[in-house]
Amino acid sequence: MYTDITLDHFKSPRNVGIIEDADGVGSAGDPNCGDYLIIYIKVENGFVSDIKFQVHGCCGAIASSSMTTVLAKGKPLMAAYTISNKDIMEALGGLPEEKEHCSLLGAVALKKAIANYASKLKKSQ
Ligand code: FES
Repeated sequence: MYTDITLDHFKSPRNVGIIEDADGVGSAGDPNCGDYLIIYIKVENGFVSDIKFQVHGCCGAIASSSMTTVLAKGKPLMAAYTISNKDIMEALGGLPEEKEHCSLLGAVALKKAIANYASKLKKSQ
């Protein structure tokens, strides 16, 4: 069973969309189920100033992607980088055991988006 929080994020996902001039982009997919997530971030003064996502996936993937963006928005980059799939599941009030892997997409794509930002920053220096 999904929690009320999970169902709310599934029905009304937060921060859906694309950031055309994103500072960092990261994606993650699960080859077993075919679900796929892309996260876009804007960074200002070391903080995640904006974040959006596009996902093709199940209820768990949509809800956990949405929660990933809620947890990361406004956070210092390092704090956002350490958001784990456990943090995402906890914020959703848990996921059914067979859906726990869905929360990995958000954690992985967010880390990749931040790493993408960091690598661009390095190249520009
Ligand atoms: Fe695979 Fe949801 S079933 S991410």
